Order: sequence, then C-alpha cells, then structure tokens
Amino acid sequence: LANGLGTTPPMGWNSWNHFSCNIDEQMIKETADALVSTGLNELGYTYVNIDDCWAELVRDDKGNLVPKKSTFPSGMKTLADYVHSKGLKLGIYSDAGYFTCSKKMPGSLGHEEQDAQTFASWGIDYLKYDNCNDDGSKPTVRYPVMTRALMKTGHPIFLSLCEWGDLHPALWGDKVGNSWRTTGDINDSWDSMISRADLNEIYADHARPGGWNDPDMLEIGNGGMTKNEYIVHFSLWSISKAPLLIGCDVRNMTKDTKEIISNTEVIAVNQDPLGAQAKKVRMEGDSEIWAGPLSGYRVALVLLNRGPVRLSITANWDDIGIPNGSLVEARDVWEHKTLKTHFVGNITATVDYHSCKMYVLKPIS
Ligand code: DGJ
Repeated sequence: LANGLGTTPPMGWNSWNHFSCNIDEQMIKETADALVSTGLNELGYTYVNIDDCWAELVRDDKGNLVPKKSTFPSGMKTLADYVHSKGLKLGIYSDAGYFTCSKKMPGSLGHEEQDAQTFASWGIDYLKYDNCNDDGSKPTVRYPVMTRALMKTGHPIFLSLCEWGDLHPALWGDKVGNSWRTTGDINDSWDSMISRADLNEIYADHARPGGWNDPDMLEIGNGGMTKNEYIVHFSLWSISKAPLLIGCDVRNMTKDTKEIISNTEVIAVNQDPLGAQAKKVRMEGDSEIWAGPLSGYRVALVLLNRGPVRLSITANWDDIGIPNGSLVEARDVWEHKTLKTHFVGNITATVDYHSCKMYVLKPIS
C-alpha cells in the first residue's frame, strides 16, 4: 500500500501468541519498558501491538469503540502517549466483521470511518484487521473500506490484513494493506511453524517494500520448540521478509530467546533494502535450500534440515543466482564468523536435525 509505511518488514511485539485475551494496560506498558531496557527497540522492534479483547462488548451511545474499563482504565490515547514517550509505536486490532474472533468485542464492519477516526485520534500507528463474523461478503469488498477510511484520516497507520490466506491476499493485498497473512494461525510447534513458512513461500514473488507476505507472528520464547527449531523459525522469517513480531513475554525472556531475536545479522537480512523474499530453490528428501537476493550483489542462504538425522547439504551457485565461476565469501550469521575458505561453485555444510545454517554470500571475484 502506497502510504509510505512498511518499506522494510515491520518489527515489534504483539500480545496474542503469549497472552491471548489476558491483556491489560499495565502489561502493555511493562512490555514497552522491557523493549527499551533489553535494547530490542534499538534493533528495530518498535511496534507494540495490542491484539483482540481490548474493548468493551458494546459501543458507547455515539457508536464509538470503548477500551475496556476494567483492563484499560486510562484509555488508549494515554497508553499511546506513554508508548510514544518511549520512542515506540502503538498498534491496535479490529475486525472486518460484526465481532472480533474472540467474540469479546465489536468489529469495525459498518463503522470503518468512525473507527479509523477513533484510532487516528488516539495516535495509533498500526492496525491489525482480522476477518471473523462477517456479513458473507468477500474480504476483497470489506478490507478496502478500512483502507480508504484510514487514508481519509491522513494519519499514517500501517495496515496488516489478517485474512489467513483464504482468498490469496498476496494477489490483491498490495493495494489494500502493508502486509497480508498467507496462513491460518501459527502455534508453538515445529510442524505448525514450518508449514506456515512453506505456505508463505508460495507467494514469494508478491512481497516488496510497502507490502509483505505474513506467515504469522513469532513463537520464539514460548517454550514449545527446541533452541535449534527457534533458530530455524527466526532464520526462515528473516529470509522470507516476514514481519518480525515477537510473540513471547519480553518482560521474562531466557538468555537463549533474547540471543535469537537479537541477532543483528539475521535482522539485517530481513530488513535489507532490496526487499526480495527468498524462495526454496532445491528440495531433496529432508534437505532444503532457501535463497534470495540481497542488496550489494549478495545472496542470503538457508540450508535447512527438516528431518530426524544429521545431513550434509550443498547449495550450488547455479541454484541461487550467483554466476558460475564466482569466488564467494560466506558469512555464517549464527556463528558470527566469516569463513576462511572462499567458495567456488557451491557451499556445503553439515546440518543437525531440525536445524539450519544461514549465510550471507558475497561474490568477491
Ligand atoms: C485470528 C488471528 O489470526 C490471530 O492472530 C488473532 O488475532 C486472533 N484472531 C484473535 O482473536
């Protein structure tokens, strides 16, 4: 969407994966504080996004959405001011239907202009727009109404379409929003994570600055996967130019969680100005090669082992868009090491089960 936002994939945090409907303003403020005290803000994690369940079940007598008095007593303008005072941005959630998915609050269908004005008046910077409890009409009809309503406010609001990929939003989303979900909801397991990445990959050609495929939010730190599996999760989201929205409790992160989501070299791949989403370029049994171009003639590469035993995986220049005959320098972005060998024709690594290697390759002659 040409609103000047999302020139690189959005980065931040969202309440849903860890907290579901158990949210309140104190927790949101503490999360903003934690993004600052951990230094995650400096790495680019600037959106603090409130998901479903923040509003009263009924609108006020003028038809306005009202933050739930028991959990958000200070109201959203005050919360936005607080989040902005920390140098962060506040995101909120609504639905292109009559009720949100939790059925715990009203949706925006039929109230798009009023709600967009409300969000703008609170200083909201990001809207996640869900797709439950609609009137039977297509998302391609309901979603652009909110797009136009947001445009009318004149306030820059990142619009995240949460349509789950049913009507292939990658094919129409770039005129409607800044990102679009390509999948149903993720859960904190290897199978769920890897299948979101697979479904999202199909639409790689449609990602670009201003409009990104969204395989759903991160589960890193929620406890359901091994450290290596979470490293795969972060590597695939990075190389797929997916939104990097942390989904754990950042107030209580383990050292491993913080280390994974703070990897500046992996983040730099995700935020590369070229904005080209990687593709699977070769699959053989349990080994997969994901690659995509980066700025400066470089290539991002993931060697992925999806299976139960250790494998040796080779990526050939032919498959990843590097001219044959090039001498290539490889930076291992998880080891933080530039490999001593310069590579000709291909690169090979041993990869543990449910693990990956991730490199930035740079032809040097
Ligand atoms: C469905 C979405 O896909 C989730 O990410 C979350 O926003 C829930 N709805 C909230 O009800």
